[in-house]
Order: sequence, then C-alpha cells, then structure tokens
Amino acid sequence: MLRTHTCGALNETHNGTEVILSGWVHKLRDKGFIVWVDLRDRYGVTQLVFDEARSPKAVFEKAQGLGREFVIQVKGTVIERESKNKALPTGGIEILVQELQVLNAAITPPFTIENESDGGDELRMQYRYLDIRRTPVRNNLIFRHQVTMAVRNYLSDAGFVDVETPYLIKSTPEGARDFVVPSRMNAGQFYALPQSPQTFKQLLMVGGMDRYFQIVKCFRDEDLRADRQPEFTQIDCEMAFVTQEDILNQFEGLIKHLLKTIKGVEIDTFPRMPYEEALRRFGNDKPDIRFGMEFGELNTLTQGMGFQVFDQQELVVGIAAPGLAHYTRKQLDQLIDWVKRPQIGAQGLVWSKYNEDGSFKSSVDKFYNEKQQAAWAKKLDAKPGDLMLIMSGPTNKTRNQLSALRMELAERLELRDPNTFAPLWVTDFPLLEWDEETQRYHAMHHPFTAPKPEELKRLETAPGQVHANAYDLVLNGNEIGGGSIRIHDEHTQRKMFDLLGFTKQEAEAQFGFLMQAFKYGAPPHGGIAFGLDRLVAILGGKETIRDFIAFPKNNSGRDVMIDAPAPLAKEQLDELGLVTKAPNQ
Ligand code: AMO
Repeated sequence: MLRTHTCGALNETHNGTEVILSGWVHKLRDKGFIVWVDLRDRYGVTQLVFDEARSPKAVFEKAQGLGREFVIQVKGTVIERESKNKALPTGGIEILVQELQVLNAAITPPFTIENESDGGDELRMQYRYLDIRRTPVRNNLIFRHQVTMAVRNYLSDAGFVDVETPYLIKSTPEGARDFVVPSRMNAGQFYALPQSPQTFKQLLMVGGMDRYFQIVKCFRDEDLRADRQPEFTQIDCEMAFVTQEDILNQFEGLIKHLLKTIKGVEIDTFPRMPYEEALRRFGNDKPDIRFGMEFGELNTLTQGMGFQVFDQQELVVGIAAPGLAHYTRKQLDQLIDWVKRPQIGAQGLVWSKYNEDGSFKSSVDKFYNEKQQAAWAKKLDAKPGDLMLIMSGPTNKTRNQLSALRMELAERLELRDPNTFAPLWVTDFPLLEWDEETQRYHAMHHPFTAPKPEELKRLETAPGQVHANAYDLVLNGNEIGGGSIRIHDEHTQRKMFDLLGFTKQEAEAQFGFLMQAFKYGAPPHGGIAFGLDRLVAILGGKETIRDFIAFPKNNSGRDVMIDAPAPLAKEQLDELGLVTKAPNQ
C-alpha cells in the first residue's frame, strides 16, 4: 500500500494512529537535529517530522538529503503538534516518521510551486504539469469538473441524451476559419475540424433524438483573446418541437441551477433585451448590466450650435461616470489618450464635469453654456459629482468606442464585482449583416437560423431588415451562449444560401446533405450552445479562460509545452499528398 491517507485527511482525531503517506516534498526545514518536511498532494499538506532523537538514524539522514518536489513515501505515527497552525485542516498534527522511501528524486523546478508563483505565464505554460501542482490551478480544474458534472446531471435529468458527433467533418460556417486535416486515403482532400456540431445536431433532430446535448470540443482558427482559444468546449444542445420561449426557459433553468448549486446565488428571472435596445443603451450586444452608465444620445442637444466636431456626425452619445468630476486635467488628458489608442481608435473625447455645487465645467464651454450642459446631464442621468464623457462619429463605430470606455471606467471604479452575477438574454438579432468588404450579406448567427415568421416576406424586398429567432445569453458582459430556432424546410434553407451569395452548386456541394435530410420530415427545432470555458471562468470570478483549461494554447495559438504546431517530415508530407514531387523523381 503506497498510502493509507491523503495529505489533507489527518487531524487531532487520528493522534496515535500509524499511517502511510505519499506525496511531494513541498518545503523542507533542516535545523540540524530535527527536519520538518511539508508533504503535499492534491488534497492538502501534512507536516512530517524527522527527529534525530526519535526517528531511526538512517531515516533521519535520508531526510536531510531530500529536495523540493521529491516524491516520497513515509510511514509514521500521528502526533499532536506543539505549535498548531489553525489555518490548515491538518495544522493540529504532524507525523513522526519511522520509515522513508524516496519514490522518485526531482530536479529543481523552474518556478516556485506556491499559490503566488514567481514563474511568468509562458514559463508556467511550458511546465504546465508543475503549474497544475499549484493549489489555484488545481482548484480551477476541480471547479471546472464540478460545473461540468452539474451540467451533465441537470441535462440528463431533463431528458437530454448525450450523443457524440464526429470531429473529422466538412466545413461548418460559424464565421471563423477551419482547421483542416489532410486525408491520406483521399489524396488532395481534407477534413475540417468542427467549429461546432451544428449540422449534426440538426440531423439528430431529423433522426428523432428530440433532446440532445454534448459537452464537446470545437475548433476555430481565429484571432485569440483572453476569452478565446483555438480549441474550446461547448455545452451544445438542441431540441425538437419547441418554440424560442421553450428554449429560453429550459436553459435559463440550467444556468439558474448552476448559479444556485455552484455559487449559492438565486436569481428569479433573467431579464431580456432586444439586440437593438442593447446597442442603443449600452453600445454593445453583450452589455454588462451589473452597473449603470447607460448611453444617452445627444444629437438634438448638441448639434447646430457651432461646435463643428459634433455637427456633421451621425451620432453624438455620452455616459456619466459616477463621482469622477474631481478628475484633474492630467487624468482627463490620459483618458483622451486612452480612447485615441489604436485599439479604440477614437478621434477624441468631450468632457463635462457636473460639479458637486451644481455648476458645470467642460472642454467645450466656448460652445455650450451651463444650461445646455444641464440638459445633457438630465439625458445621461448624471448627478452632481459625475463626469460626463461624450463621443461622436458613425453610429456603430462610436457605440463600440464608448462601450469600451464604459467598461474601462467600470473597471477603474471597481463596478465589475466578480461575485455579482447579472445574466441577460439578448434577443431579436438581425438575421443578416451587410459586409462592406465583400459587398454581401453574412449570416449574423449562422445560415441555419430561421427568420422570424412574421418577417419572412421581407426576405425578398429588404433582407437586411429581417430579424431572427436568435438569442445570446450574456453573463457579466460576456457572451456565454448563443442559439436560434432553425430553418427546417428545404425551400427556406435554399433561399438563405442564395441570399448569402452561394451559387446553387456551391450550396448543394456543401450542404446538400442537410437539405436532402429536410425532405424526409424534419421537425421544427432549435437550440443553443454555451461556451463551457467562459461559463466556468465567470462562475470562478475570472474572465481569462486559460486559467480553467488544463493545457491551453498561448496567444499565438501555440502549445509551448509540447511545442505544437510543428513541421512534418518530408515522408509524411509526401504520404499525405502535400508536397508535389519534382517531375524527374
Ligand atoms: P456560437 O458561435 O455563438 O454558436 O458559439 C457558442 C458559444 O461558444 C463560445 N465560444 C468560444 N469560447 C472560447 N473560445 C472560442 N474561440 C469561442 N467561440 C465561441 C461562446 C459562444 O457564445 N452552433 C452555434 C450554437 C447554436 O446555434 O446552437 C454556435 O456555435 O461562449
């Protein structure tokens, strides 16, 4: 037996018990006549004592030769500690060791295995197996497991069946680029890794599996950010014979269940907001509604009054930052520089201080008097002591910029409390979005999303104005899920591909299988997919999903531990038909 107990199990009730423990040497203190070792495993830390007077001589000497991260096994007796450590569950006892076996020696780790490590990000990723020995990282993985189990149990109890779908498939258009896999047996041909199991789950509905779920890896070749990985996990779900209302209620139930069981937070009903309202009020289709600072449109209160910067613009819009009227000139200039950075790309920022005494002072006092600024304050719901910040320009661009500023200020004002949870359904997305670059429509969600039935007629005349039965679930300003009611008839699906600029042949070649399936009695259906990594991170109080993934990729999409991606040997490329042989070979 390599252990009778784990390193987190023993306490005063075990005094006098003979035990065997195994684990890693976390810390070592050698006083010459006594050696203390903190022994660590997944479950905790237990103090070992090797005493010149009380342990066998050979054991004592062996203990003196131990090093950090050695893997050892000890046999000894649980004894009460003289100076107890109340902060540790095992802090009342120690093990007086009689036998010691070194199971494996270790070289010095490249960073300290402590809660606060001295290792930088890249180094910790390179030695991720050592990083996982650290309590915060280990706890994040255990936390992810708890969320995943709660999801599985909830969905299984609700009658959803977990069905696996293939990874070697044909391209699914979710908006990113595909990762592709060359086929050896079909030279010159490629599989694509799924960006999501979208078409398969719809085919499962045609197959009659009316409630499906899968916790599934998805692959997207897109620019990476804190909340994006090239391979990530979805909680993918689909239901047949349902309306949008049924789906929202079902999955609101899932998220409520997670909030309650995992975080102890009870939320009654999730608010809902149409897409266009979210843009108008927060400049963003995934608004963080834990705090206010709502947008106020100021066109009529600012234009035609001599200030040319505002005059010709499509949108003049502002927010009131609570309590920031005391900002100094320097702080204001820094804020202006912040919005002018290329990441935000604003031309500038107009400010107006609503002072505590009710007076106003702004960067545009030459053009607007106090009465006019008081009208802005009313529109922006500003209180004395607040700082009004105003931007102008083309509507979409300006909303994006002001939204970024709103989030930045909320961060500075500590309004984004990770222990507050504010879910929000965003509904009524447009079906299509016009892409200036390619001069054609793109599906806002994906090409399988159904137009709102009452707007179906407008598909012919004004497709850009048609809305979809599509919805996102936003949690604390993060999009954690998205879905829609699907098209389930061949005719509408063909029409959709047509609108998206597919020729008949292209649509047939890529999605003929789906349209064929629709001819065999497809039920009305719809679904949703949640980003598990994002959901876990937010429930865990963070926004960086990497912290909750055992072996994540860095921002260039590399796994620095195994050093992937990597070149292939010529023979392998040949075999895959990926290199053309020179004509005389
Ligand atoms: P969508 O593309 O909105 O929908 O994806 C669903 C959710 O997956 C998460 N997500 C990501 N998480 C981490 N890294 C990424 N690169 C990444 N990309 C997306 C987000 C997102 O809300 N098939 C549809 C769902 C459906 O219609 O049922 C789909 O994939 O949290």
